[in-house]
Amino acid sequence: DGLTVGGVRKLLEDGESVPDKLKLKRLPQCIIIGARKCGTRALLEFLNLHPDIKAVDHEMHFFDDVDKYSLGLEWYRQNMPLSLPNQITLEKSPRYFITPKVPDRIKQMNSTIKLIMLLRNPVTRTISDFTQVYYNKIAKGKMFEKFESLAIDQRTGKVNTGYKAVRISLYYQHVERWLEKFSRDQIHIVDGDELIVDPVSEIRKVENFLGIRNQVTEKNLYFNETRGFYCMKQGTKSNCLGATKGRKHPHIEQNDNKLRDVKIQMRFVPFSPGLLCPSAVLI
Ligand code: A3P
Repeated sequence: DGLTVGGVRKLLEDGESVPDKLKLKRLPQCIIIGARKCGTRALLEFLNLHPDIKAVDHEMHFFDDVDKYSLGLEWYRQNMPLSLPNQITLEKSPRYFITPKVPDRIKQMNSTIKLIMLLRNPVTRTISDFTQVYYNKIAKGKMFEKFESLAIDQRTGKVNTGYKAVRISLYYQHVERWLEKFSRDQIHIVDGDELIVDPVSEIRKVENFLGIRNQVTEKNLYFNETRGFYCMKQGTKSNCLGATKGRKHPHIEQNDNKLRDVKIQMRFVPFSPGLLCPSAVLI
């Protein structure tokens, strides 16, 4: 009915209901592409508190899964939540970060899309990844190796880049592929370690990147002493992430000389020309 984005916003601000026909399923204008175990769930849930964002609650894995991708963009769109014209549809699938075909596929869908890349200290990420697989295997009653023997190649004594958890943490290899397809200003990097200790600041940077109002603040998040993480305040309710987020990491033998090498080699990896990654944060 000729309603502009400003008109819709005014209706919402005035507490009026927006005509249902304005709510549509739209392809995402922003995607959190990973990396796994860097805080992707926390970021998605926190951003979903924003009135201008509509997030898909589950991981779609559309662009990295051959079977799903073959269903086409219309199938993908049908799986998006209903949104208003002024809202940004947001999806997150952490495997996008590491899957070679994904940048090109996303570019074919929307060459001006905004991408959020979450990175954190690569050693912590590797241990977090190990911990997740460890818990899953323990739950299935399987035997499991120690982190130290997986992360170090027992034959050469060097970092075992054949171990998937290590490979994912070699961020520069993956980032390079994204930079081949997208311009730097289309990619916003969130520091996953900062997201744990100061989520409001990290979210404000995302809001600025997306060009939306700064709405998610200390009013929405509080530090939960019992969990040791920030949780969401929704009215009188407190909402923390599930028990699979913020797991206790197993003890890793830090005095192991070989493991000290892992830290050094994984922390100081150069990105492509002119870009350095001292602690997994692209400058
Ligand atoms: P750990 O469980 O190893 O501590 P992802 O959602 O991408 O799988 O990332 C999981 C990680 O998010 C957790 O790893 C945890 O450290 C981090 N995280 C960041 N903010 C969090 C929060 N508010 N609550 C729980 N976990 C959070």
